[in-house]
Amino acid sequence: MARTPLIIGNWKMNVDHVAAVSLVQKLAWTLKDAEHDPAAVQVVVLPPFTDLRSVQTLVEGDRLDLAYGAQDVSDAPPGARTGDIAAAFLTRLGVTHVTVGHSERRLHHGEDDALVAAKAVAAVAAGITPVVCVGEPLEVRRAGRHVEHVLAQVDGSLAGLGAEQVAAAVVAYEPVWAIGTGEVATPEDAQEVCAAIRQRVGQVHGEAVADAVRVLYGGSVKSSSAASLMAQPDVDGALVGGASLDAAEFAAIVGAARP
Ligand code: PGA
Repeated sequence: MARTPLIIGNWKMNVDHVAAVSLVQKLAWTLKDAEHDPAAVQVVVLPPFTDLRSVQTLVEGDRLDLAYGAQDVSDAPPGARTGDIAAAFLTRLGVTHVTVGHSERRLHHGEDDALVAAKAVAAVAAGITPVVCVGEPLEVRRAGRHVEHVLAQVDGSLAGLGAEQVAAAVVAYEPVWAIGTGEVATPEDAQEVCAAIRQRVGQVHGEAVADAVRVLYGGSVKSSSAASLMAQPDVDGALVGGASLDAAEFAAIVGAARP
């Protein structure tokens, strides 16, 4: 089964709602100039929450070939959760994707697999595709335990989803030591773990689900490294941080994902 490549730009806590307008416009023009085919490669940007309304207005108003998502979501329905954002609010803003369990959330907000799983369930219930992030820290990789570490996160973080929901979900393998460090994993390292993730999904939910689920690599992806990463059979795209803030660089990564 052919999986459509997916490139996601994670802006993190960068770009306010005014700057978001020019970044999205610039990205849309650059993709157009590069004759980007939205049917061949799916492109999603993840602005901060405060930008979502302006991005929605632009994407809908100008009918841009771009989807947008959020970087986090509450596991709870609307109510007494000060500072949190309910999945239903994101759906109302046209959000299609949301990352859950990014290593920066796991680190700075103490999120564990059980909470990540609950957030994935909340996203799916609101019609949003969860992008479930997993990845090992440096000491785990050095000890040679990266595959088992990541698979435990996959088991825990996908625990609440049924087979059909996993088939439609996205898993992003982001080794913590590669995020924001400039130290990208080798294509072979990315393939090893992405293949193991797909195999585990197959063991739990069967071959058809393993064939359908999209597995991305993330961690210091640049246009220079994107093609060799995405040439790997189990790497279906990229979750891009720093390089997604530069429209030309991000568009070049999208170009490298073309099958
Ligand atoms: P980076 O971030 O591309 O800046 O390493 C990736 C991510 O954290 O999603």
